Amino acid sequence: MTNPTLRDEQAGAHLDAIRQSYDTVAADYARFVKDPGALDPVSRAVLTAFAESVTASGLGPTADVGCGPGKVTAFLTGLGVSAFGIDLSPRMIDLARAAHPELRFEVGSMTALESGDGELGGVLAFYSTHHLPPTELPSVYQEFHRVLAPGGHLLLVTRVGEEEHQRRTYGYGDGDPAPFDSYRLPADRIAGLLERAGFAITAQTLQAPEEGAKRPVAGFLARKPATAKAP
Ligand SMILES: C[S@@+](CC[C@H](N)C(=O)[O-])C[C@H]1O[C@@H](n2cnc3c(N)ncnc32)[C@H](O)[C@@H]1O
Repeated sequence: MTNPTLRDEQAGAHLDAIRQSYDTVAADYARFVKDPGALDPVSRAVLTAFAESVTASGLGPTADVGCGPGKVTAFLTGLGVSAFGIDLSPRMIDLARAAHPELRFEVGSMTALESGDGELGGVLAFYSTHHLPPTELPSVYQEFHRVLAPGGHLLLVTRVGEEEHQRRTYGYGDGDPAPFDSYRLPADRIAGLLERAGFAITAQTLQAPEEGAKRPVAGFLARKPATAKAP
């Protein structure tokens, strides 16, 4: 059996490393990343479908977990969603607050969200879960399930692959390099873990890698059933 103290320490060290790397690249990332309105049509359609589902449900607010500089949080708000952002990196949160002072952004981790049980109508994880070691995904998906109200919606978008662990040191644009561990799982493995956490998948997309990218992008629209059982 894994020693829980050792496991917690490893998880803490891993989060510290990712926080530090995103703090280093935050300003370059904010300049580099596209505004959601300039994304490809499928990505915009998936975000729009999520926004419509969340607003139609009439449930609580939506957390954009791993919101980075807050561009997607603001995009959702423009679509009528009551959205706020959470990010591990304090520097990202500073940038998000400066760019969108009317919105709420907080430092936090998707591994232990501040929201109470069933408090949220939506959870968005847009290119933010791939730094988690696969062993942590079940508990993070359970955390998404915990904070959602019955009938609430999840949208998870991530690159997928063949169980790959990549370690890269690169900057965004010409910016400072920083180390990033990423894990690319097969789409059906992610779908299975979401279902095991208690989600019903309502739609799944698979986009071919865009020019300059190697891995396809999968999107999972999922719902916490209205009569949710504990996973
Ligand atoms: C590639 S960026 C994506 C940012 C934003 N979602 C977007 O699409 O522009 C990944 C973000 O996830 C954040 N992140 C990584 N692990 C996290 C965790 N455990 N909890 C909260 N945020 C996390 C990083 O700090 C970073 O800002």
